[in-house]
Amino acid sequence: MSVNGDDEIRPPPYRRDPRDSRIATLHAQPRNPMNVTTEQLFTEARTQNGFTDQPVAEAQLHQLYDLMKWGPTSANCSPARIVFVTSPAAKDKLLACMSPGNVDKTKSAPVVAIIGMDMAFYDKLPYLFPHADAKSWFVGKKEFADTTAFRNSSLQGGYFILAARTVGLDCGPMSGFDNAKVDAAFWAGTEVKTNFICNLGHGDPSKLFSRSPRLTFEEACRID
Ligand SMILES: Cc1cc2nc3c(=O)[nH]c(=O)nc-3n(C[C@H](O)[C@H](O)[C@H](O)COP(=O)(O)O)c2cc1C
Repeated sequence: MSVNGDDEIRPPPYRRDPRDSRIATLHAQPRNPMNVTTEQLFTEARTQNGFTDQPVAEAQLHQLYDLMKWGPTSANCSPARIVFVTSPAAKDKLLACMSPGNVDKTKSAPVVAIIGMDMAFYDKLPYLFPHADAKSWFVGKKEFADTTAFRNSSLQGGYFILAARTVGLDCGPMSGFDNAKVDAAFWAGTEVKTNFICNLGHGDPSKLFSRSPRLTFEEACRID
């Protein structure tokens, strides 16, 4: 099955905003439609526990980000920040922060993404949400800002996983790590905190567990 019935993801519609030529420029980026199926995104995609040696091209990381960035966030606040860990030195630094059960799978991944959240995301709102003075909604309201950063960076984490699958990569998301250690090792001197970590690459099927069940519609949903 394809997500839009004709085997391709269509780019978002080109919208020229006559009030702002910068916005028009942003929307005018060239985009190539990608063939993608619901099996690839959802029903056959698995959380990987090990990865093959097949490398990941840097261009794929750009492609991934250039898809995930279009997912919606409140007031377009876009709080997610990402470090793609690829070098042996950075990998060693990260491995020292992982829970024991996550070390081997992280070692095997050619790329590991640290998905962070910029707790001062609102500083960019004059650019990201020029329609209103959205920055003032958050300045001095730490609890509201923190909730907004966590909610929207988590959403962007979901978009990240689907975008990775779209560009042909497998994911292994993880929350088993020492947050304070990862923050100190990768986000020192910034307002960014780690949300979750995601191994990226090409999955080794021999490391998969059998698929766990999901809740049925009746168990998880209600129509009022
Ligand atoms: C936010 C998040 C955190 C997770 N943390 C871990 C983890 O620390 N270690 C691990 O082995 N798996 C972790 N998982 C993997 C889940 O157990 C897995 O995605 C789930 O069982 C579904 O597996 P499936 O996609 O193969 O059906 C995490 C998944 C998510 C989305």
